[in-house]
Amino acid sequence: MRMPIIAGNWKMYTTPAEARKLVLDMLPALDKVEGVDKLLCPPFVSLLLLKELLKDTSIRLGAQNMYFEVKGAYTGEISPLMLVELCHFVILGHSERRWYFGENDRLINNKIKSALSHKLIPILCVGERLRERESGRAQEVISNQLYAGLSDVATSSEIVIAYEPVWAIGTGKAATSKQAADTIKFIRDTLASIWDGRRAQEIRILYGGSVTGENITELVSQSEIDGALVGGASLRPEEFVSIVSQAAKIKGKSII
Ligand code: 13P
Repeated sequence: MRMPIIAGNWKMYTTPAEARKLVLDMLPALDKVEGVDKLLCPPFVSLLLLKELLKDTSIRLGAQNMYFEVKGAYTGEISPLMLVELCHFVILGHSERRWYFGENDRLINNKIKSALSHKLIPILCVGERLRERESGRAQEVISNQLYAGLSDVATSSEIVIAYEPVWAIGTGKAATSKQAADTIKFIRDTLASIWDGRRAQEIRILYGGSVTGENITELVSQSEIDGALVGGASLRPEEFVSIVSQAAKIKGKSII
């Protein structure tokens, strides 16, 4: 049975003071929810602060990006060696990194391998743009991102995949639960070709893109969908706690 994950990607929101307030606002209720892995991914500058605030709680931390080199003259970059002291997870290949910062599959693959070699769990994001879906190329695009992103990555690697269709991110137009489940099934089949069927069944695959307190229950009711990578709604404490609680309730039932 795959343990569900709800991850909040705070993107470039919250100053350290705001991050402190946000986490303190959600912490008491969030800490109590069982049966789902709860993950917060704040900006780099708040990781240390949140590490202290979340000590002795059930909530884990992730970063939103990293460079693949361990150290060196790379002004402005953050290395896996730095992150591993602060958090357990790292989001890699997010579409905002791919499209605003020109990250390609080769760079993302280097980052994935580097994260794994430092015992960080990568959350590899994949997903098609609107014109790619409309021209029937969604599967081809996603398959290419997976093959390239996971090139030379060992079958046994602990990794999470997030399916985030670019057209659903920040638009208020989430994929339907059927679209998300069908694509995640396709991703799982692709992982079975890259690795093997048994390993593919163990990998957690999340959906991301306009997830809210309104649509989470329907999304996680799909057995293929193992949780969510939440952007905007993770900045609203009550709604994020509600998303996590709903996921725990639905996925808890399927465990029983
Ligand atoms: P929104 O939930 O704001 O659409 O963002 C999704 C996302 O990009 C999470 O990584």
